Amino acid sequence: MAHPFAVIIVAAGKGLRAGTPVPKQFTRWRGKAVLRHSVEAFAAAGATDIIVAIPAGAEELAADCLDGIGGVQFVTGGETRQTSVHEALEAVSGNWKHKDKATPLPYILIHDAARPIVPQCVTARLIDALGNNPAAIPVLPVVDSLAKAEGSMMAGSAMREELRRVQTPQSFHFDAILHAHRVWAGAPDAGDDAQVAQAAGLQIALVEGDEALRKLTFAEDFNVSPLPPVRVGTGFDVHRLVAGKPLWLCGVRIEHSHGLSGHSDADVAIHAVVDALLGAIGAGDIGDHFPPSDPQWRGADSGLFLEFAAQLVSQSDYRIGNIDLTILCEAPRIGPHRMAMRTTLAKLASVDIAAVSVKATTTERLGFTGRGEGIAAQAAVCIVLKD
Ligand code: CTP
Ligand code: MG
Repeated sequence: MAHPFAVIIVAAGKGLRAGTPVPKQFTRWRGKAVLRHSVEAFAAAGATDIIVAIPAGAEELAADCLDGIGGVQFVTGGETRQTSVHEALEAVSGNWKHKDKATPLPYILIHDAARPIVPQCVTARLIDALGNNPAAIPVLPVVDSLAKAEGSMMAGSAMREELRRVQTPQSFHFDAILHAHRVWAGAPDAGDDAQVAQAAGLQIALVEGDEALRKLTFAEDFNVSPLPPVRVGTGFDVHRLVAGKPLWLCGVRIEHSHGLSGHSDADVAIHAVVDALLGAIGAGDIGDHFPPSDPQWRGADSGLFLEFAAQLVSQSDYRIGNIDLTILCEAPRIGPHRMAMRTTLAKLASVDIAAVSVKATTTERLGFTGRGEGIAAQAAVCIVLKD
């Protein structure tokens, strides 16, 4: 990004569709005002000047949003986005005149304040493209098929391969875009500056955009989930070892002199994981959902309990981030079965095996596990809010 560049951010709209109490560009989003996000991004990318078009009378509001950031120039915007850009271009057209001829005029980037996230890679592409063209815009492919509409009826189709979704920032040679706005004869509600530039005959390069540049438009774009992004749960269980019973651990049948006793198949490891998952969503414990008093769970495959708990997690808008399980026993040795156990747990919980860890430890012959009277298991899980 060797060539100097200045930025105009248009923030003079009313934000009617978002319907936030203050216009959306001044509303708090992800910890700070929407406008502040892009101002900080352009400052970090090295913009020489940042000019913000704001509604008449909004100086104090805008200054509050940008508290502590120096050097931002405010300009009063117009009735439409196109007029706001034009006003800003005219207002700054004298900015660089005093500089000597050897200093190149900065390129100009024009950006919607309503697109808070501005990846530096896109800015760099836009500036690079101005080496060969007077204008460049970031675009993304259309992935859905397209229909032309007449009211509520389909009236035809369009070739998505020929079309692109257009974002901002858009980059221009300053004089070229100023001239384009001066001669613009279309309606004053041009969707973006590329339309104005093209009407003036400018060649416009297409560079790769980024989904992160998404525009905040509707009320739901501001809806932040009340749920925490991450929750954790822990589970602990013990079962007695008895002779003449099969031993199930993590859904894997293990050859051993003893097995675990309990109402179900007594898979102590799965029970600990189930309790951790239920704990993470605050949904009680395994006994609440599968009471030992209920005959239908006699000898039951504990895998069912884990599938059920994983479904409950999913229904609560979370997905399982990872599961970490520790089995406490003197015997049998767990190491040889570890992969089979991880595979089975991952399948039952519908997660990738990489998200499942199975560990084991002895208790140095101490306590009931040390004496081989029983096996204990403890689990920790992390669950993550779905996108
Ligand atoms: N904009 C502007 N001056 C206007 C109208 C819009 O500077 N007279 C800016 C907006 O502040 C926004 C960008 O242009 O950053 C894109 O416009 P849009 O998303 O349509 O925002 P609003 O016009 O504010 O919203 P709405 O159309 O829902 O009222
Ligand atoms: Mg608008």
